[in-house]
Amino acid sequence: MRTVRTVAEMREALARPRRRGERIGLVPTMGAFHDGHRALMRAAREASDVVVVSLFVNPSQFTTADDLNRYPRGEAKDAVAAEAAGVDLLFAPSVEELYPDGFDTSVDPGELATVLEGASRPGHFRAVATVCTKLFSIVQPQLAWFGQKDAQQLAVIRGVVGDLNLPVEIVAVPTVRDRDGLALSSRNAFLSAAERDVALALPRALRAGVEAHRNGDDPVVAARRILEPAEGDLTVEYVQVAHFDPPTLAAAVRVGTTRLIDNIPLGAH
Ligand code: PAF
Repeated sequence: MRTVRTVAEMREALARPRRRGERIGLVPTMGAFHDGHRALMRAAREASDVVVVSLFVNPSQFTTADDLNRYPRGEAKDAVAAEAAGVDLLFAPSVEELYPDGFDTSVDPGELATVLEGASRPGHFRAVATVCTKLFSIVQPQLAWFGQKDAQQLAVIRGVVGDLNLPVEIVAVPTVRDRDGLALSSRNAFLSAAERDVALALPRALRAGVEAHRNGDDPVVAARRILEPAEGDLTVEYVQVAHFDPPTLAAAVRVGTTRLIDNIPLGAH
């Protein structure tokens, strides 16, 4: 595996495979790899001749400086994990490389970016759409993999790719969960053992909501019924049916200083 830090190097590294007609796959990440990332890399490895993983903690998509500063980082460890997953190229640019002085263009994903996560984190999806569009333009992959865990991000990216006719196919990979049901997230590392116990109400609530929906009941009411007793230790930001494809029960909660999101498609078993 080779680590590449500049746009020019990346283009150069991909020139020959592209000339040969090889299939280039991209997994965009912010590092701090866990089994969820490994599932994305595995799917990319199976379907691509050249697997590129980008590792870039994108400052503009963080709502507060605090959140950005405490985001877990560890490129050396991530490089070992990426290599073990069969990644060919790790694209780890600096902030200056992607946002040089004078950078002043952004991709606005419209209405979908203003609800749910977008309502809680204004500007977040514009920043995600902008960096992903840049990555698609730099790497020019035929395929790119995103986790279902960030269902709204997936929907936003699909919207951008469709609306701008970007020549990349977006592939969704199901959420990977720990044995206790908590969806894997780099932010889980911030939870104490006691907070983690509290956080388990989130996947439990979503499962109850999906079950209620299957029985013809209101999924939001059922999910809130599970979350309410935990309130005090946990703050509910939203529980909503998101009109993605497929419709999805989505929620965001805060446990201590950690914000967690999760979702389950309503048709799931
Ligand atoms: O999901 C993430 O890790 C990030 O939002 C992404 C897609 C890499 C863009 O910075």
